[in-house]
Amino acid sequence: MIGRWLSELPMDDPTRKSTSRPMLRRFIHHTEPIKFIKYIGHGAEGRVYLIEVLGSQYALKIFSNWTYTSNIYLRERQKPYTFPFSHECRAFARLDSLDENGTWAVKCHGWIKLSDEQFKPLQRFSGLSRWAIVKDYIPNEVSISDVPEIRRKMTIARKALLYPKDLQPRNFRGSFLVDLGAVRTYPYPPQRFWSNTRRREYFAWFDKDASQWEVSVRDGKVIEGWLNRMIKGKPSPCETAEAGDAKLD
Ligand SMILES: Nc1ncnc2c1ncn2[C@@H]1O[C@H](COP(=O)(O)OP(=O)(O)O)[C@@H](O)[C@H]1O
Ligand SMILES: [Mg+2]
Repeated sequence: MIGRWLSELPMDDPTRKSTSRPMLRRFIHHTEPIKFIKYIGHGAEGRVYLIEVLGSQYALKIFSNWTYTSNIYLRERQKPYTFPFSHECRAFARLDSLDENGTWAVKCHGWIKLSDEQFKPLQRFSGLSRWAIVKDYIPNEVSISDVPEIRRKMTIARKALLYPKDLQPRNFRGSFLVDLGAVRTYPYPPQRFWSNTRRREYFAWFDKDASQWEVSVRDGKVIEGWLNRMIKGKPSPCETAEAGDAKLD
């Protein structure tokens, strides 16, 4: 991975960051002890923790061992470019090289490969790799008042030649995207997964979708509008089952 989407230079190295060959630099305190403060969340791609290093707090996303690719006909060398870790590294690196670290997406502090000592508290979880990305911790969830800013800031992603997917409300904190695991960065080596037309359509679709985000009638969190309509309308079979369970309690 080093030399492809990771650079061994520390994040604060003063040399110029290549824009055309995005390589994420390393977390400057990568050899320091990590204090795990609390578990924040997880999805399919990994686990996220609030951590403390040398007295400063960060969010640490530790990636799952990933082998899945939606196209089995890709050449072996190209497959890893479709994995969440490389998606995040290349997208954060591109943003950083354009001086846009911490504007559209959460501020990134670089990559880290956890040592045995640093990995110890995570040993009990199966399927986790040692590869992780350090980011700012953003305590507040997305709120409906963040939506205009989210829509405005999409120009940053467009100009950075990023092709995001999976821009669901839960992948934002405040107006910042925190999950870049599905963001493709140009040039995307499996070229068949990059289409300028589809990318343009995606941005237009997202702008409309985000304009229809709403506060959930169920728990007050921001969700896509169609979900509220589903909740208010005919209950899904699984909701009926849940209601049945509640009556039994
Ligand atoms: N930097 C962060 N600050 C605060 N919360 C975060 C941060 N990064 C992720 N989270 C929370 O953790 C959850 C899981 O992280 P995410 O990167 O989306 O994992 P996955 O890629 O597996 O979906 C997110 O939905 C978000 O609520
Ligand atoms: Mg996510």
